[in-house]
Amino acid sequence: MSDTPWWASQDFWRKCAIFVTAFMAVVLILLTFHTMDAITSGSDRVPAYAVINYRIGYEFDAERNMYAPVIGEEAPLFGALHTEDDARALVDLGKLTVQAKNCMNCHTLLGNGAYYAPDLTKAWLDPGWGNEQSRELLMSMFLTDPVANARTFGTRKRMPDLGVTDEEARGVIAFLKWLSAVDTNGFPHGFETLPQGGS
Ligand code: HEC
Repeated sequence: MSDTPWWASQDFWRKCAIFVTAFMAVVLILLTFHTMDAITSGSDRVPAYAVINYRIGYEFDAERNMYAPVIGEEAPLFGALHTEDDARALVDLGKLTVQAKNCMNCHTLLGNGAYYAPDLTKAWLDPGWGNEQSRELLMSMFLTDPVANARTFGTRKRMPDLGVTDEEARGVIAFLKWLSAVDTNGFPHGFETLPQGGS
Protein backbone atom coordinates (compact mmCIF):
# COMPACT_ATOMS: atom_id res chain seq x y z
CA MET A 1 0.00 0.00 0.00
CA SER A 2 1.35 3.41 -0.92
CA ASP A 3 1.53 6.06 1.79
CA THR A 4 0.96 9.02 -0.64
CA PRO A 5 -2.04 11.03 0.63
CA TRP A 6 -4.99 11.31 -1.83
CA TRP A 7 -4.39 15.02 -2.48
CA ALA A 8 -0.84 14.36 -3.62
CA SER A 9 -1.67 11.50 -5.94
CA GLN A 10 -1.09 11.77 -9.67
CA ASP A 11 -4.60 10.57 -10.36
CA PHE A 12 -6.18 13.38 -8.32
CA TRP A 13 -4.20 16.08 -10.13
CA ARG A 14 -4.88 14.55 -13.53
CA LYS A 15 -8.61 14.75 -12.80
CA CYS A 16 -8.22 18.35 -11.62
CA ALA A 17 -6.47 19.30 -14.86
CA ILE A 18 -9.18 17.69 -16.97
CA PHE A 19 -11.96 19.33 -14.95
CA VAL A 20 -10.41 22.84 -15.05
CA THR A 21 -9.72 22.59 -18.81
CA ALA A 22 -13.27 21.41 -19.53
CA PHE A 23 -14.81 24.08 -17.27
CA MET A 24 -12.76 26.90 -18.79
CA ALA A 25 -13.61 25.69 -22.31
CA VAL A 26 -17.30 26.10 -21.47
CA VAL A 27 -16.68 29.57 -19.95
CA LEU A 28 -14.76 30.59 -23.07
CA ILE A 29 -17.59 29.46 -25.33
CA LEU A 30 -20.16 31.38 -23.25
CA LEU A 31 -17.97 34.51 -23.23
CA THR A 32 -17.48 34.25 -26.99
CA PHE A 33 -21.25 34.28 -27.55
CA HIS A 34 -21.63 37.15 -25.10
CA THR A 35 -18.95 39.17 -26.90
CA MET A 36 -20.39 38.40 -30.34
CA ASP A 37 -23.71 39.76 -29.08
CA ALA A 38 -22.14 42.90 -27.64
CA ILE A 39 -20.13 43.77 -30.76
CA THR A 40 -22.75 42.99 -33.40
CA SER A 41 -24.24 46.02 -35.09
CA GLY A 42 -27.79 46.65 -33.97
CA SER A 43 -26.94 45.97 -30.32
CA ASP A 44 -27.05 48.40 -27.39
CA ARG A 45 -23.67 49.97 -27.92
CA VAL A 46 -23.00 49.28 -31.58
CA PRO A 47 -25.78 50.85 -33.64
CA ALA A 48 -27.26 49.41 -36.81
CA TYR A 49 -25.62 50.72 -40.01
CA ALA A 50 -28.65 52.85 -40.89
CA VAL A 51 -27.55 55.16 -38.06
CA ILE A 52 -25.67 57.01 -40.82
CA ASN A 53 -29.09 58.52 -41.66
CA TYR A 54 -29.14 60.41 -38.36
CA ARG A 55 -27.29 63.20 -36.63
CA ILE A 56 -24.75 61.85 -34.18
CA GLY A 57 -24.38 63.96 -31.07
CA TYR A 58 -21.84 63.42 -28.35
CA GLU A 59 -23.02 64.46 -24.91
CA PHE A 60 -21.85 64.21 -21.36
CA ASP A 61 -23.71 61.55 -19.42
CA ALA A 62 -23.50 62.63 -15.77
CA GLU A 63 -24.63 59.27 -14.46
CA ARG A 64 -21.82 57.40 -16.20
CA ASN A 65 -19.45 60.37 -15.87
CA MET A 66 -18.40 60.13 -19.51
CA TYR A 67 -19.36 61.29 -22.98
CA ALA A 68 -21.69 59.08 -24.97
CA PRO A 69 -23.09 59.26 -28.51
CA VAL A 70 -26.67 60.44 -28.83
CA ILE A 71 -28.58 59.55 -32.00
CA GLY A 72 -30.53 62.64 -33.04
CA GLU A 73 -32.90 63.67 -35.78
CA GLU A 74 -32.68 62.62 -39.43
CA ALA A 75 -29.50 63.89 -41.12
CA PRO A 76 -28.98 61.90 -44.33
CA LEU A 77 -25.44 61.22 -45.46
CA PHE A 78 -24.64 62.50 -48.99
CA GLY A 79 -28.17 63.91 -49.20
CA ALA A 80 -29.93 60.55 -49.32
CA LEU A 81 -31.54 58.18 -46.85
CA HIS A 82 -29.97 54.73 -46.95
CA THR A 83 -31.71 51.44 -46.29
CA GLU A 84 -29.99 49.19 -43.74
CA ASP A 85 -28.58 47.08 -46.61
CA ASP A 86 -27.27 50.11 -48.55
CA ALA A 87 -25.80 51.57 -45.38
CA ARG A 88 -24.13 48.27 -44.58
CA ALA A 89 -22.64 48.03 -48.08
CA LEU A 90 -21.27 51.57 -47.78
CA VAL A 91 -19.82 51.03 -44.30
CA ASP A 92 -18.33 47.71 -45.50
CA LEU A 93 -16.66 49.47 -48.42
CA GLY A 94 -15.21 52.02 -46.00
CA LYS A 95 -13.95 49.38 -43.61
CA LEU A 96 -12.38 47.38 -46.45
CA THR A 97 -10.71 50.56 -47.74
CA VAL A 98 -9.35 51.32 -44.28
CA GLN A 99 -7.97 47.77 -44.12
CA ALA A 100 -6.65 47.66 -47.69
CA LYS A 101 -4.86 51.02 -47.36
CA ASN A 102 -3.63 50.11 -43.89
CA CYS A 103 -4.73 53.37 -42.27
CA MET A 104 -3.81 51.77 -38.93
CA ASN A 105 -0.19 52.15 -39.97
CA CYS A 106 -0.52 55.73 -38.68
CA HIS A 107 -3.95 56.00 -37.02
CA THR A 108 -5.74 54.18 -34.25
CA LEU A 109 -9.33 52.95 -34.57
CA LEU A 110 -11.01 52.19 -31.24
CA GLY A 111 -7.52 52.52 -29.79
CA ASN A 112 -5.90 49.89 -32.04
CA GLY A 113 -3.15 50.88 -34.41
CA ALA A 114 -0.28 53.32 -34.54
CA TYR A 115 0.14 56.62 -32.72
CA TYR A 116 1.54 58.80 -35.50
CA ALA A 117 -1.79 60.36 -36.46
CA PRO A 118 -5.06 61.10 -34.59
CA ASP A 119 -7.40 58.37 -33.41
CA LEU A 120 -10.20 58.03 -35.98
CA THR A 121 -12.92 56.66 -33.68
CA LYS A 122 -14.61 60.05 -33.36
CA ALA A 123 -13.06 61.72 -36.44
CA TRP A 124 -16.57 62.35 -37.81
CA LEU A 125 -17.17 64.68 -34.83
CA ASP A 126 -13.85 66.51 -35.07
CA PRO A 127 -14.37 70.31 -34.83
CA GLY A 128 -11.65 70.59 -37.50
CA TRP A 129 -14.31 69.98 -40.17
CA GLY A 130 -15.69 73.44 -39.47
CA ASN A 131 -19.42 72.84 -39.42
CA GLU A 132 -21.91 70.15 -40.26
CA GLN A 133 -22.67 71.61 -43.68
CA SER A 134 -19.09 71.56 -44.91
CA ARG A 135 -18.02 68.35 -43.22
CA GLU A 136 -18.89 65.76 -45.89
CA LEU A 137 -17.31 67.81 -48.65
CA LEU A 138 -14.15 68.64 -46.67
CA MET A 139 -13.74 65.04 -45.54
CA SER A 140 -14.09 63.72 -49.03
CA MET A 141 -11.67 66.32 -50.43
CA PHE A 142 -9.20 65.51 -47.66
CA LEU A 143 -9.39 61.74 -48.10
CA THR A 144 -9.01 61.83 -51.88
CA ASP A 145 -6.28 64.47 -51.83
CA PRO A 146 -4.87 64.94 -48.30
CA VAL A 147 -1.77 66.75 -49.52
CA ALA A 148 -3.75 69.62 -51.04
CA ASN A 149 -6.52 69.66 -48.43
CA ALA A 150 -4.85 69.16 -45.07
CA ARG A 151 -6.33 71.32 -42.35
CA THR A 152 -4.11 71.26 -39.28
CA PHE A 153 -0.47 71.75 -39.86
CA GLY A 154 0.15 72.48 -36.19
CA THR A 155 1.68 69.05 -35.73
CA ARG A 156 3.76 69.31 -38.92
CA LYS A 157 2.65 65.78 -39.68
CA ARG A 158 0.99 65.22 -43.02
CA MET A 159 -1.12 62.49 -44.43
CA PRO A 160 0.16 61.11 -47.74
CA ASP A 161 -2.01 60.58 -50.83
CA LEU A 162 -3.15 56.97 -50.58
CA GLY A 163 -5.00 56.90 -53.91
CA VAL A 164 -8.45 56.77 -52.25
CA THR A 165 -11.15 57.08 -54.95
CA ASP A 166 -14.32 59.20 -54.58
CA GLU A 167 -16.41 56.07 -54.04
CA GLU A 168 -13.98 54.71 -51.43
CA ALA A 169 -13.99 58.09 -49.68
CA ARG A 170 -17.79 57.94 -49.42
CA GLY A 171 -17.43 54.50 -47.85
CA VAL A 172 -14.78 55.70 -45.41
CA ILE A 173 -16.96 58.68 -44.42
CA ALA A 174 -19.96 56.38 -43.83
CA PHE A 175 -17.72 54.06 -41.82
CA LEU A 176 -16.40 56.95 -39.71
CA LYS A 177 -19.92 58.31 -39.14
CA TRP A 178 -21.12 54.88 -38.00
CA LEU A 179 -18.00 54.43 -35.84
CA SER A 180 -18.61 57.76 -34.11
CA ALA A 181 -22.03 56.42 -33.01
CA VAL A 182 -20.47 53.44 -31.23
CA ASP A 183 -20.60 53.83 -27.46
CA THR A 184 -16.95 53.44 -26.48
CA ASN A 185 -17.22 54.18 -22.76
CA GLY A 186 -15.97 57.71 -23.35
CA PHE A 187 -12.94 56.76 -25.46
CA PRO A 188 -10.97 58.71 -26.55
CA HIS A 189 -10.99 60.67 -23.33
CA GLY A 190 -11.35 64.48 -23.43
CA PHE A 191 -12.41 64.59 -27.08
CA GLU A 192 -14.07 67.88 -28.06
CA THR A 193 -16.64 67.65 -30.77
CA LEU A 194 -17.96 69.65 -33.66
CA PRO A 195 -20.82 71.90 -32.48
CA GLN A 196 -24.01 70.09 -33.47
CA GLY A 197 -26.97 71.98 -34.85
CA GLY A 198 -30.52 71.26 -33.74
CA SER A 199 -31.37 70.18 -30.25
C1 HEC B 1 1.46 57.82 -43.29
C2 HEC B 1 0.57 58.05 -42.19
C3 HEC B 1 -0.93 58.06 -42.48
C4 HEC B 1 -1.69 57.10 -43.10
C5 HEC B 1 -1.24 55.75 -43.66
C6 HEC B 1 -3.05 57.56 -43.05
N1 HEC B 1 -3.11 58.77 -42.44
FE1 HEC B 1 -4.80 59.84 -42.04
N2 HEC B 1 -3.71 61.31 -41.19
C7 HEC B 1 -2.34 61.30 -41.06
C8 HEC B 1 -1.93 62.53 -40.43
C9 HEC B 1 -0.50 62.92 -40.10
C10 HEC B 1 -3.10 63.28 -40.20
C11 HEC B 1 -3.22 64.69 -39.61
C12 HEC B 1 -3.13 65.58 -40.83
C13 HEC B 1 -3.44 66.96 -40.57
O1 HEC B 1 -3.58 67.31 -39.40
O2 HEC B 1 -3.53 67.72 -41.54
C14 HEC B 1 -4.21 62.47 -40.68
C15 HEC B 1 -5.54 62.86 -40.59
C16 HEC B 1 -6.60 62.09 -40.97
C17 HEC B 1 -8.00 62.41 -40.76
C18 HEC B 1 -8.53 63.62 -40.04
C19 HEC B 1 -8.61 63.22 -38.58
C20 HEC B 1 -9.50 64.06 -37.73
O3 HEC B 1 -9.53 63.83 -36.51
O4 HEC B 1 -10.17 64.95 -38.23
C21 HEC B 1 -8.73 61.40 -41.28
C22 HEC B 1 -10.25 61.28 -41.32
C23 HEC B 1 -7.80 60.45 -41.82
N3 HEC B 1 -6.53 60.87 -41.60
C24 HEC B 1 -8.18 59.26 -42.43
C25 HEC B 1 -7.28 58.34 -42.92
C26 HEC B 1 -7.70 57.16 -43.64
C27 HEC B 1 -9.13 56.78 -43.93
C28 HEC B 1 -6.55 56.50 -43.98
C29 HEC B 1 -6.43 55.24 -44.80
C30 HEC B 1 -7.09 55.31 -46.11
C31 HEC B 1 -5.42 57.26 -43.46
N4 HEC B 1 -5.91 58.35 -42.83
C32 HEC B 1 -4.11 56.86 -43.57
C33 HEC B 1 -1.48 60.29 -41.42
C34 HEC B 1 -1.84 59.12 -42.07
